[in-house]
Amino acid sequence: MNDDTSSLGRRIGRVAHVATTLSGAAIKTLGAKITGNSDAFPQVLTEALGKLKGPIMKVGQILAMVPGMLPDDVAESLMQLQSQAPSMGWPFVRRRMAFELGAEWPTKFTHFEKEASAAASLGQVHKAQLSSGEIVACKLQYPNMLSSIEGDLDQLRLLLGLYERTVPILDTVNIQHELKERLKEELDYRLELRNMERFRKLFGNTNLPVIVPKSFESYSTDRLLTMEWCDGADLMVVKNWSITLKRRVAENLFQAWYYPLYQHGVLHGDPHFGNYRITPEGQIIMLDFGCVREFPESFLAGVRKLYRALELNSASEANEAYEMWGFENLTSELVDALNIWAKFLYGPLLDDRIRPLVESPQEGKDAAKAVIQALKQSGKVRPPKEFVFMDRAAVGIGSAMIHLGVELNWHQLFQSLVESKK
Ligand SMILES: Nc1ncnc2c1ncn2[C@@H]1O[C@H](COP(=O)(O)OP(=O)(O)O)[C@@H](O)[C@H]1O
Ligand SMILES: [Mg+2]
Repeated sequence: MNDDTSSLGRRIGRVAHVATTLSGAAIKTLGAKITGNSDAFPQVLTEALGKLKGPIMKVGQILAMVPGMLPDDVAESLMQLQSQAPSMGWPFVRRRMAFELGAEWPTKFTHFEKEASAAASLGQVHKAQLSSGEIVACKLQYPNMLSSIEGDLDQLRLLLGLYERTVPILDTVNIQHELKERLKEELDYRLELRNMERFRKLFGNTNLPVIVPKSFESYSTDRLLTMEWCDGADLMVVKNWSITLKRRVAENLFQAWYYPLYQHGVLHGDPHFGNYRITPEGQIIMLDFGCVREFPESFLAGVRKLYRALELNSASEANEAYEMWGFENLTSELVDALNIWAKFLYGPLLDDRIRPLVESPQEGKDAAKAVIQALKQSGKVRPPKEFVFMDRAAVGIGSAMIHLGVELNWHQLFQSLVESKK
């Protein structure tokens, strides 16, 4: 083994063992620290999450969306965090490419950049040119990611167990199951390729200003995804654009995320800032189809029913809607508690006027506090698995809208998506 290989081995070892930063023993110590002091939980969890890298970071980002689980500033910074996994150097990339596409792989490209252009949560992205001329992005996965994810999920189970004991308002069994299934799916770049093609076709049949990169199947495997290279600005740049253009971006972003859901029952479950780009005309380039979820029509009917229930202020309709979402053991106290969160998320969609998405930054915090208080009265709730990505998408897109700082008639925007349901 030459020096190069052994240093690469160490580098990959570091990636593959991110889980060891948070061992079972460390979690027990955390547990001891917060016994009988549930107020300390957010602080303790923050310390633990601060050490995480790689795939489990996504879990941190999801936890950031559970109201009250983490302090607001921590939740916000976790949601913006980009993967910082150490990168694979050129000799290792060459070997990984040969493993994926065969020893002759260099003949398939006229150019392949040695330096990665971006980090991915399970690997890295290289810019390249195919021998047929197309400029592409090659997302190449690190080896051994399955064992890394499994280790991380064990730690997550311990952390959530601790959370349930100290702040007994959530039963996380479905949440854990969902995270496990979806994180494991992210390993499979062939599945991601199929999802990307599905979204590409779905938007290709509309006039919506959304671009999905073309994929190149014969240059892809389950650990290598080759797709059209797409340039665009990220949201932090768009923040400085004109208000007219920002309004267009906000509308387009809303449609990019919710047209697939309300018209076709599929949702891109990760509207993280790194997962889309914006063209100078305000079109949305959607990236990263590693976390796509399909929803049964019965569930979507529940989403529409909840909207009507809030519109009519009807507790019985709301109760039925939550049943359709998959909530169990509903009591009137629990329905009241869930309604607080639902009113916060649906509020702008019910209000037929031009307005900011939230009237003040305090609004979300107040809603979260009120939900927690109400759940302490009503007893534990077990969110259904579908709730995880519905909430994640809403909070992720909502946070982008707040960054853009635009005022829109959200009600009409939403109606135009839902009403055109064929
Ligand atoms: N088609 C593309 N063109 C240009 N850059 C891309 C493309 N796809 C991904 N990237 C870059 O690579 C990063 C990681 O890719 P992504 O698919 O989001 O990986 P992950 O699933 O690990 O988050 C993106 O945030 C983006 O910066
Ligand atoms: Mg991504």
